[in-house]
Amino acid sequence: MPLIIETIVTTRSRSGEIHIAPLGLIQRGDKWIIAPFTPSKTLDNLQENPCAVANHVDDVRIFAGCVTGRKKWPFNRAEKVDGAVLKAAMSHWELKVESMEDDDVRPRFICRSVFTRGHKPWGGFNRAQAAVLEAAVLVTRLKMLPKEKVESELEYLQIAISKTAGDRELEAWGWLMEKVQAWRGEQG
Ligand SMILES: Cc1cc2nc3c(=O)[nH]c(=O)nc-3n(C[C@H](O)[C@H](O)[C@H](O)COP(=O)(O)O)c2cc1C
Repeated sequence: MPLIIETIVTTRSRSGEIHIAPLGLIQRGDKWIIAPFTPSKTLDNLQENPCAVANHVDDVRIFAGCVTGRKKWPFNRAEKVDGAVLKAAMSHWELKVESMEDDDVRPRFICRSVFTRGHKPWGGFNRAQAAVLEAAVLVTRLKMLPKEKVESELEYLQIAISKTAGDRELEAWGWLMEKVQAWRGEQG
C-alpha cells in the first residue's frame, strides 16, 4: 500500500471560487495523487483548473468542519499556482496536475509539487487529533458502514478524546458527534 497523507485540499473553480475539502494524497514516487470521488466539487475544479494546494494543518476543526458543513476557512493566495493557502496551514504544497487517469468512481490526478513552504513549527503528536481525523472519515461513511462497526470505532476513539483533547479537538469532536447523533436518530 502506498503512503497516504491526510491534507486539506484547496481548488479553484473557473469562476474563481475557492473550494476546501479534506482529501488523502497518495504518494507515487516523487508525485502526489489526488483521487476525488465522482461526483464532487474537487473533481469539477481539478478538471476546470488543473492545480491544487495541499494544506497541512494541526487544527483538526478544519477536517471536522468541512465534513459537517463548516467549509469557510480563511486563506491567502498561493505563490505559484492559481489557488489558495489556508491561514491555518503549518506548511503547504502547491501542486500542478501533470496527467489524469480516468475512472467512473474515482479518477486520479497525478500532480507535481512546484512549491513548498513552512509557516509554523510543528507542535508534536496528539492522540485526540488523530482520533478526530478517524472520526471525520467515519462521518463521511456513515451510510456505507454497518452500525456496529461505527459504534465500536467511536467508542475506541472516544478514549483518546477523553484523555488527550484540548479545546480545538473537543470542539471538532462535538461537531462530528452532532452528525453521529442525527444518523443514530435515522437508525431508529
Ligand atoms: C481525512 C479525510 C480524507 C478524505 N479523503 C478523501 C479522498 O481521498 N477522496 C475523496 O473523494 N474524498 C475524501 N474524503 C471525503 C471528502 O472530504 C468529502 O467527501 C468532500 O465533501 C469531497 O467532496 P467535495 O469536493 O464535493 O467537497 C476524505 C475525508 C476525510 C475526513
